[in-house]
Amino acid sequence: MSMKIPFFNNKQTKESFHYTEDNTPDHIAIIMDGNGRWARNRGMPRVVGHKEGLSAVVKIVKVAVKCKVKVLTLYAFSTENWKRPNAEVDFILRLPKEFLTIYLPDLIANNVRIEAIGDIENLPTYTREAVQHAIDRTRDNDGLQMTIALNYGSRHEILNAMKKMIADVNEAKLSLDELDEQRFSRYLHTAGMTEPDLLIRTGGEKRLSNFLLWQLAYTEFWFTDVLWPDFSEKEFMHALEEYRQRKRRYGGI
Ligand code: FPP
Repeated sequence: MSMKIPFFNNKQTKESFHYTEDNTPDHIAIIMDGNGRWARNRGMPRVVGHKEGLSAVVKIVKVAVKCKVKVLTLYAFSTENWKRPNAEVDFILRLPKEFLTIYLPDLIANNVRIEAIGDIENLPTYTREAVQHAIDRTRDNDGLQMTIALNYGSRHEILNAMKKMIADVNEAKLSLDELDEQRFSRYLHTAGMTEPDLLIRTGGEKRLSNFLLWQLAYTEFWFTDVLWPDFSEKEFMHALEEYRQRKRRYGGI
């Protein structure tokens, strides 16, 4: 990113915004799709779309802070994304460091806590260290939690959770009788987090792509054809508006 997009200008404070409407989703998860098409539509290499996608991340994190969203979970890199050409994988996996190098001070100033889900250990050192550093530096913040899903795949997460749970049963740390959904959830990467209230997917596709399969059981879904680099505050507010109209019944009437 050549130029820093101001995260907050000096006069704006969280209190000066007027986005405190009721029924704002606490946890919003986003599948940020359409970067490649955005670039192709302009005759540019796919990676230009990813770079522009990072600018959209900056915009949306800023809006999420304004709206007092509690958790924003962004699907940045899936376990399936390794199938892409090496140069593209390398480019995407450098984006978290680029983002955090520029914006970590702003994120800290705005009380944002960085978290990560996914198989972080098997990421390149530059990605892992940048993310770990941000997690450590923001650990005590209690504003927006920005969760970056990196090398994340939901089936892999569930399978691993099951293995750890079975090990605990075998070691008598857990009995099958006391096993319930809540206890199982503690073995997932999202342990301790609320489940998403709203899932947004940009880019026109209507699928989950192995994202948070367990956690999205009762989530409201919102899809848009807008490609991720074009996703704006206006679109985000539109998703929130529609969410507010919905009645969540969790299987009841
Ligand atoms: C999907 O679009 C997008 C990705 C696989 C990468 C998204 C990553 C970012 C926007 C950066 C994230 C960084 C942080 C710090 C959260 P696509 O390439 O599949 O688009 P296409 O469907 O048009 O080909």
